[in-house]
Amino acid sequence: MHISFSEAIHRLKSGEVVAIPTETVYGLAACLEQTHAIEQVFALKKRPSENPLIVHIADQNQLDHYVDDLPPDFDRLANAFWPGPLTMILPCQPDRVPSIVRAGLPTTGFRMPQHSLTRELLRQTGPLVMPSANLSGRPSATCPEHVEEDFGSEFPVLDGGWCLKGVESTILYFQDPQWVVARLGALSPEDFQKVLGYQPSVMVKNTKEKPLCPGQLFRHYAPRAKLILIENNDFSSASFIIGFKEKKYPSHCQVLVFGSLNSPEEVAENLYRILRQLDGQNIQMAWIDMDFPRQGLWSTIAERLYRAGES
Ligand code: TXA
Ligand code: MG
Repeated sequence: MHISFSEAIHRLKSGEVVAIPTETVYGLAACLEQTHAIEQVFALKKRPSENPLIVHIADQNQLDHYVDDLPPDFDRLANAFWPGPLTMILPCQPDRVPSIVRAGLPTTGFRMPQHSLTRELLRQTGPLVMPSANLSGRPSATCPEHVEEDFGSEFPVLDGGWCLKGVESTILYFQDPQWVVARLGALSPEDFQKVLGYQPSVMVKNTKEKPLCPGQLFRHYAPRAKLILIENNDFSSASFIIGFKEKKYPSHCQVLVFGSLNSPEEVAENLYRILRQLDGQNIQMAWIDMDFPRQGLWSTIAERLYRAGES
């Protein structure tokens, strides 16, 4: 159910949960001060309580209340990438960020989104917690229709159109002496080189060690269809392929395209829509063409597809 900007503000301030757009994906928003609404966010998503939420702010002065000690190069990163698809995990004042938001950790993830509607909303509501607006485990939502698929047509959504980035924010974590990538996202590790003077290493899911983001432990981004990831262009047993504009696939196969091999931005923007389309068309099994580069934004796309394909 589409609601107006003023109604979204009213509902959030009165302790309700509302889905709102960002430039990455839609978020399921609740005011940081409304603990009951935050509990509702976990319940609606069926999200494990061990998985903390990101706090979204409109301006950097909203951060000062929650964080005293900022890690080295924080200002350089914030100046370069905020507002934008960067989340930074920061040591926080534990009495100021409710424990449920942090899943009991001594840190909080902060992000300043770029979407103009969202920034204006945040100025009026104050900080909002916002996980992606999908049921836990499902592909994230990149338009209001996706939110309604997961939460029903009566669920309140502020319509901000398509999410242009299409994948979540990149999460950076400071592990003395360097920042590391704790979740790949819309900014690639290479994007930080100029600002930091080094390319942060990627510390995503590692089966032996505890991941830096608890969220990496859980199943993610998956449609109901079984995904078969093909690295070597052998589609001989395929019937339904998701691939790229420029490529030729066996003529007996049905084909959906993510976009062009020349534009990882286009592929990222379409990624979750295409994965959701499989369920919309009731496809049981799909073969994914993984023969694409692995640098820059492609590394995020590959990671999302590997995660979506885990059974
Ligand atoms: O682009 C985005 O980041 C979107 C939009 C709505 O802003 N939000 C989003 O939230 O992707 P969510 O909840 O789907 O993913 C948040 C990730 C989870 O993997 C969680 O474990 C991690 O951030 N996270 C949050 N707080 C953390 C903390 N204090 N320490 C480590 N990881 C944290
Ligand atoms: Mg999510």
